[in-house]
Formats: sequence, C-alpha cells, structure tokens
Amino acid sequence: MSNRGSFSGRLGFILAAAGSAVGLGNIWRFPYLAGQNGGAAFLLIYLICVFALCFPVMVGEIAIGRNAQTDAYGSYKKLGGGKWGYLGLFGILAGIFILSFYNVVAGWAFGYFLEISFGDLLNQTNYGQYFGNYVNDISDNFWFSLGFMVFTALIVSQGVQKGIEMANKIMMPALYIILLGLIVYSLTLPNAIEGVKFYLIPDLSEIKTQTIFDGLRQAFFSLSLGMGALITYGSYVSKNQNIVSSAAVISIADSSVAFLAGLMVFPMVAAINAYDVQGPSLVFVVLTEVFHNMGPIAGRIVGGSFFLLLCFAALTSTVSLLEVPAAYLVDQKKLPRKTVVWGLALLIFVLGLPSMLSQGMIPFLNKLSFYKERDFLSFVSDMCDISLTVGGGLMCIFIRNRWKIANMNNELAIGNPTYFGSLLKKYIDFAIMWLCPIILGILSILIIIDKFWGIEKIFG
Ligand code: TRP
Repeated sequence: MSNRGSFSGRLGFILAAAGSAVGLGNIWRFPYLAGQNGGAAFLLIYLICVFALCFPVMVGEIAIGRNAQTDAYGSYKKLGGGKWGYLGLFGILAGIFILSFYNVVAGWAFGYFLEISFGDLLNQTNYGQYFGNYVNDISDNFWFSLGFMVFTALIVSQGVQKGIEMANKIMMPALYIILLGLIVYSLTLPNAIEGVKFYLIPDLSEIKTQTIFDGLRQAFFSLSLGMGALITYGSYVSKNQNIVSSAAVISIADSSVAFLAGLMVFPMVAAINAYDVQGPSLVFVVLTEVFHNMGPIAGRIVGGSFFLLLCFAALTSTVSLLEVPAAYLVDQKKLPRKTVVWGLALLIFVLGLPSMLSQGMIPFLNKLSFYKERDFLSFVSDMCDISLTVGGGLMCIFIRNRWKIANMNNELAIGNPTYFGSLLKKYIDFAIMWLCPIILGILSILIIIDKFWGIEKIFG
C-alpha cells in the first residue's frame, strides 16, 4: 500500500482538489449557462447548490477515500462489501466518458491559444462563423486534442506528488493571476457596468425549472463530485488533515473562480452587445471578438493569456479525471502506473472521436434523432452530468444505510478534534441522511425526463 503515493500536505491536497474542480466548467461552461439562465438568478441558484448540497457530498467523498485508502471501486467495496463496488465502477466509467468529451473542448482551447498567440486568428471578421468552421475541422482539432491528452498523461504518469501535485502548484497560482488581470481589463471596457448589472442583480422572475436543473448539474460538475474523483484524491490525504475545512476551502476556491469568470466575461459581452451569443460558443466567439478589437499586439497578449488560462484550468481537471481510472487499475490490478496511464489516455482519446466529429463533420452525430436533434458531444456531456447527481445521491445512501454516518463522523473527527458538537456536523449529518438523497433523487429523475422528453410539458 505504501507505494501508491500521497500528497505532501494540506496545501498540496487543497491545490490539487481545487485544480480538479476549477476547469472548463468554471470558465467556459459557467458563463454560458449563466447567460442562458438570466445571469444573477443563475448565480444565486448555483451558489445555493454548491453550499447546501455539494459541500456535504464533497465531505462524504473525501472521508470515504481517506478511510479506505484506495481507489473509487476499492473504497466502496472495502467499506460496503458485496455489490457496492459497482457504484465505484459506475463512477469510474462516468469519469472516462467525461474526459472523452472534455478533452475535445480542451483541444479547442489549446488550438485557440496557439492560433491567437502565434497564428492569424485575430484577423478574422466573423467570429461566430469562424468558431463553427473551427470545431468542424477535424484536421487541426485532432492534433490539438491529442496533444492535450499527451500533456495530461505526462503529468499523471509522474505520480501523485511529482506529477499531479507539482503541476497544480505551478498552474493554479498562475491561473488566479491571469484571471485577476483579465478582470481588471474587462471592467475598464465601455459599457462594462451593464454587464456587471446583468450578472449581479438577480431578477427572481428569471428562476425557472431549467435554472434549477442547470444550477444543480453545473455545481456537481464544477466541484468534480459524484464519480469518485474526490474519493481517489481523498485516498492520498494523510490522517492529520481536517477534511471539513479543506472541503470548505475547495468549494470556496471553485465557486470564486466561477464567479470571477463571470465577472470577466459579462462586461465583455456588454461591451460588444453580444447578449444574443448563446451556448458553448460564448467565450470562443465573444471574447475573441473583444481581443480582435484590441488591436494586433494587445489582442495577442491578452487573448493569448485568456486561452492559456483556459488550458491551465482544463489541464488540472483532465489530470484528475485520468487519475480516477488510473488509480483503479494501479490499486486493483496491480499494473504499473505508466502503462496504465498511457493505455487509458489512448483509449479515452479514441472514445472522444465521435464527440469531436459531432460538431458538423458527421451529420448523423450532429443531429441525434433520439436526442432532440442535438449533437453527440452534448449527449455525452448531459448523460455524464446526470450520472454525477445520481452518483452523489447514491453515495449519500451508501453512507446512510451501509457504511453508517457514525463511521463517517469518526473519520471526519480525525484531524478535527472539535468536529463532534459543532454546528457544521449537525448540518452535514442532516444533509447526508435526508436532504441530499431526497433532493438529488427527485431532481435527477426530473432532469432525465427533461433531457429526453422536455419537462416544460409538465411544469411549464
Ligand atoms: N470540475 C471540472 C470542471 O469544472 C471538471 C472535472 C474534473 C470533473 N474532474 C471531474 C467533473 C470529476 C466531474 C467529475 O471543469
């Protein structure tokens, strides 16, 4: 067991877990979901989900991992016995599929970084059209996303401390610095204040069923919950650490980056009056147009920094996604880490090809007949989101009915002697026993109905 690796200490773990959490989800997906769901109203729902529902689930996951000291499958099996291991496997599989499409989007960001910094991307006239053609053109994307997977594998193959922890210690501070710099720039743009208002003043009438669904699944995705990533990272945490306070720092770090990403994006949206740009193309279209307007040199520098930021954020997340199945094969099958990592990277890259080809190249993948004519990448991404809320709910049931909440609390009290008797303990107990399983169960079912058939027929 001793050679499976561990984080060097509290900072290493927190940075790695925050690195897993902070990713494309915060900087690419959060702003466009907020844009589609009324801005501030979405922010509000998202924050409620993060702290009321996700935080207790995060505490539970880390506790499971640290107690069992093994991968996601092994942890459920060790603490639950019997069939509970399948819950771990289900999560590992979900992680594989998340990485398959995530790496495609990361490849777009990597390509944009290279083409803005060193190519002629900023000489275009129509960025909406450019992005459409860009994601459709597999000849470039193939190499960019392959390159991204190679970076990921290089880091993970170095192990927990020398690979994952080290990469996060470099990239996470860089990410914060770039982000803050970009916000300062963004807030000086003409009309910035309009964007800030849209983003910060909630119009409660904008809260619809869709807002709640999107807020919840975004919170789970953004915090890397529900599929065992934090069980895996938790298994590398030493016993003297305070899990509850670490989880609080991780949740705050993650939601603050999402918040700040919105604060960077919406003034830019307002500056070029691009409220109508919707969906996944938002940062690729609106931001590049703003960078274009800055002129060739400033545009290259600021635009290049933005996409570098996106790549850093994505890389610390892809690393965590690859670590989950890698830890499983290393711990359970006793295979060498390097072999496992490169084999998985290749497999997952190939699994991502249909997502890559679904952006226009192959018409049938672009408009799935059984999925409301949407594209394959969205399909995989939506199915993964659902598996996260389901996985989170089942994890609560696992703790509640099988491992037992008292065992979780004993684990949490290690490194946190005042945990028993704290108010937070009362809340976490209540959330894991009742609030999360019930709400996650109901919402997961509703989200599935909505995705396949449309909930508006039922609730309006
Ligand atoms: N949280 C990351 C993001 O916001 C993505 C991610 C990394 C993830 N690891 C995960 C999502 C595990 C779910 C599960 O971009």
